[in-house]
Amino acid sequence: MVKVLFVCLGNICRSPMAEAIFRDMVEKEGLSEKIQIDSAATSSWEHGNPVHSGTRKELAKVGIGVEGMYSRILNDNDLEADYIVGMDDSNIENIKKFIAGRKTGEVKKLLEYAGEDRIIDDPWYTGDFKTTFKDVTKEYISMCHSAIIFRIVKLYVPMLIPLKVIYCQTQMAFYSLILFQAALSATDMALALN
Ligand code: 4NP
Repeated sequence: MVKVLFVCLGNICRSPMAEAIFRDMVEKEGLSEKIQIDSAATSSWEHGNPVHSGTRKELAKVGIGVEGMYSRILNDNDLEADYIVGMDDSNIENIKKFIAGRKTGEVKKLLEYAGEDRIIDDPWYTGDFKTTFKDVTKEYISMCHSAIIFRIVKLYVPMLIPLKVIYCQTQMAFYSLILFQAALSATDMALALN
C-alpha cells in the first residue's frame, strides 16, 4: 500500500482538490486497493470545515465530488505517508517543522514532480480557483501517457525493466509516479518480474 498525503495551509482549497483529483484517477486505474490518499492542513484555522465552494465548483465541472471531506490538521499518523506533498514553500517549511527530524516519506511540492520550481498559488488569497485547478491537473496528460505505458508494460512483460528505467529517467508527473509505483507493486507485476 502506497500512502499519499496532500498538504496545504487550510486544507479546504488546494490539498482537497489534489486529493479528490488523484483519488478519481486512482479509481479509474483500478488501483484504489493499492494507494491510500488523504489530505491535511498545516494550520488548525479551518479545522472541521468542508471543502471551499471555489474548489467544489471546479471539481464539479469534471464530475468529481467531495462528500465526506473536512479540514483536519496534520497528526503523527501522517508520518506513515510515503509521499507528503505540499503546495508551496511555506507548506514545506511547516511540514518539516512538524516532522521535526522523525522518520517519514518523501516531502516535496506537487509541481516539483512536474519538474517545475514553482508553487501552487493559494486561491484563498487570489480567488483564482481556475488557475489552481489547471496547476493541480497540469500533469494529467502525462498521467494519460503513463496509463498507456501501464498497458504496454502489462502486455509486453519482458520489456518491463527497460521501460521502468526509461520511465524513471524522465521527469515524471507525481500522479504518474505513484500510479506506476503502485502498478509495479501489484502481485501480477511482481510475479512478472520474478
Ligand atoms: P488552502 O487555502 O491552504 O489552499 O486550503 C487556505 C484556506 C484557508 C485559509 C488560508 C488558506 N485561512 O486563512 O483560513
